Amino acid sequence: MTEKILILDFGSQYTQLIARAVREANVYCEIIPYHKPVEITDDLKGIILSGSPFSVNDEKAPWVDILQMVSRKPVLGVCYGAQLTAKVTGGRVEKSEKREYGRALLQIEKENRIFKNVPTESQVWMSHGDTILELPADFELLAKTSSIPIAAFEYHGDINFPLFGLQFHPEVYHSEFGKTILKNFLVEICGCSQDWTPAHFVSDTVDALKKQIGNKRVVMGLSGGVDSTVAATLIHKAIGDNLFGIFVDNGLLRKNEFTQVLETYQQLHLNVKGVDASEQFYSLLSGVNDPEQKRKIIGRTFIDVFNAEAKQLEDISFLGQGTIYPDVIESVSVHGPSQTIKSHHNVGGLPEEMHLGLVEPLRFLFKDEVRRVGLELGIPHDMLYRHPFPGPGLAIRIISDITAEKVKLLQEADDIFISTLKEQGLYNEVWQAGTMLLPVQSVGVMGDERTYEYTVALRAVTSVDGMTADWAHLPYKFLGHVSNEIINRVRGINRVVYDISSKPPATIEWE
Ligand code: XMP
Repeated sequence: MTEKILILDFGSQYTQLIARAVREANVYCEIIPYHKPVEITDDLKGIILSGSPFSVNDEKAPWVDILQMVSRKPVLGVCYGAQLTAKVTGGRVEKSEKREYGRALLQIEKENRIFKNVPTESQVWMSHGDTILELPADFELLAKTSSIPIAAFEYHGDINFPLFGLQFHPEVYHSEFGKTILKNFLVEICGCSQDWTPAHFVSDTVDALKKQIGNKRVVMGLSGGVDSTVAATLIHKAIGDNLFGIFVDNGLLRKNEFTQVLETYQQLHLNVKGVDASEQFYSLLSGVNDPEQKRKIIGRTFIDVFNAEAKQLEDISFLGQGTIYPDVIESVSVHGPSQTIKSHHNVGGLPEEMHLGLVEPLRFLFKDEVRRVGLELGIPHDMLYRHPFPGPGLAIRIISDITAEKVKLLQEADDIFISTLKEQGLYNEVWQAGTMLLPVQSVGVMGDERTYEYTVALRAVTSVDGMTADWAHLPYKFLGHVSNEIINRVRGINRVVYDISSKPPATIEWE
């Protein structure tokens, strides 16, 4: 039985951070929209109510029956969750005179298990438009800040389980002891045993996969990326060679990538067939300049190649996928009660009549957890910590039509850039790096000869999630060295530039 915490999402931008902080404390948790019924099971150890862009005084403010919940399990309200707790129990919540946003100094007024190992004064992060002005009877004030009188409280009324409210956001990085406070809720108050580790996840998941799949067969498209590799390794651990992997070479991978990735799959004993479909991709992409067109052609051709291979396999019952948690969390819309569910069938396309079930062993993991599970499974570190690489590959880094010759030029230049980053210990300093082949030829001189050759742009960015990014401030000496190496070693390129645009307003890829 895996102990579980439920996080009720009221639409805060920070809800996923609560989940990640809980998981970091080795406690399993799930996020559900606040309006979904909470199933009270034995393995449920506690409930956390998230923040929200709503005010508890809005006519359509999201509402849940907190007293009913706390009659069955411990509850912690965060920001909106705390205001709602105060409001439904008879307290007074009003609009703050000014919106309180940013750092604040938390001052603990009363010792409590939720503040175990937290100093009397520490920095917290606030983001709220309402303030709790009065607590109802039976509530005990635990902490204030320099600007608000009620920052943390506990209920001592006639309920079976503890009920806490925190006006600040313990889940964000700027709350210095936020993770300690959340951990105290999990351990001291909910009694969680913190045994949700990668090893535990692997053994539970392998058991569940064995049950789900039995002696049936699974087909899966592999890309060399982290998610599909970890998912396939888990499935393989459960069902061995009844997993049939297909790895398609679209001719747009990095230099030697197809062979190297296949070798790694072999080391992992995965039953994977490599399919070289480069020519098919090149011929369909011939003369196409528009990036969206390129993406469509590549997506469609991948499905065609994958389907043709999958159909040759007999008695397949399941399709394996590397879907991860951020793709499946149902988000609460801030514009009304309607909810949006992100599409998550990213390999889609296998004919409906094959009636395949889905196998998605990573459905509940965040990306960093996928990597930790990968390490547990013995997948090489380099494979797990590679830079992100776009599905359409080098096609969207060739800023014009695609030919086999251009791919070759770009592969060579990119290989020099990436391997030099690794050699000089800079690879892990940047979030993503790559090389663009520009549709610009210019004059150069080599020895006594005049050249008229291509230009490449080097791109390296720092980022947390790819949504925003800054250009990486790589040392001039390094850039100079890479430029010399590319121009001297790659015939056909005589000019190298470095992209110093941030995202926004630019993007990471050029197309
Ligand atoms: P942009 O260029 O939008 O890139 O700043 C953000 C991240 O997304 C990757 N990217 C893609 N990944 N298919 C993918 O699988 C695509 O069409 C695609 N376009 C961009 C990009 O490499 C970066 O990590």
